[in-house]
Amino acid sequence: MDWNREILQKPQWKEEITNREQKERVAKIIAEKVQEGDVIGFGSGSTSYLAAIEIANKIQTENIKITAIPTSYEIEMLCTYLGIPTASLENKKPDWCFDGADEVDNDNWMIKGRGAAMFNEKLNIKSAGKIYILIDESKRVNKLGEKFPIPVEVNPNALNYVKQEISNMGVTSIELRMALKKDGPVITQNGNLILDVRFNDIDYMLEKKLKEITGVIETGLFIGYNVEVIS
Ligand code: 5RP
Repeated sequence: MDWNREILQKPQWKEEITNREQKERVAKIIAEKVQEGDVIGFGSGSTSYLAAIEIANKIQTENIKITAIPTSYEIEMLCTYLGIPTASLENKKPDWCFDGADEVDNDNWMIKGRGAAMFNEKLNIKSAGKIYILIDESKRVNKLGEKFPIPVEVNPNALNYVKQEISNMGVTSIELRMALKKDGPVITQNGNLILDVRFNDIDYMLEKKLKEITGVIETGLFIGYNVEVIS
């Protein structure tokens, strides 16, 4: 028996999608890559949302079977709504994955995690055979950190300790990310908090240095990943 799934409303992004035309263009490009039997890591954010819709159109029109490994509740619910079967990394390894990004520099170093999903996103990216990053031109930067802070996911018990350690790493600001439509802070899918941190300088060791701090679960810094950027 199937549930009445009315609660999963017709797909609708929570706000107007910026640069929608460019995002739809890259969504179509990624949908073209889908092949019968693929296990695909689905990223989060509005670009990934549009990509999931294009992929659903493609598999329906061409009667293709795939499995999605979603990185967030919103993408998982969207897949369910669209009839795309889902699995987790516990039982499937992605052949390839796609995701969006907040900033991409000339070496394809990235900041991700505006949607607070970077732990699952990094897991998918590290697990997948091939990685596609879908961006519109607004995401290109000369220097990481130009527009976005680096999100750092922190175990709630370690919040004060992590803040103290990060404060000694040349930061210009550290903010606890607060929720909208909920009192208090953003709680990630893994039950953690997010610190949004701006650094004076982002060097190639920073991702590793942040991960060495006890209590840091993940960061939105992606340095030196072998990704193909589609824009
Ligand atoms: C979510 C992410 C997104 O991929 C990133 O924020 C890009 O979002 P959008 O496609 O809406 O511009 O990292 O955690």
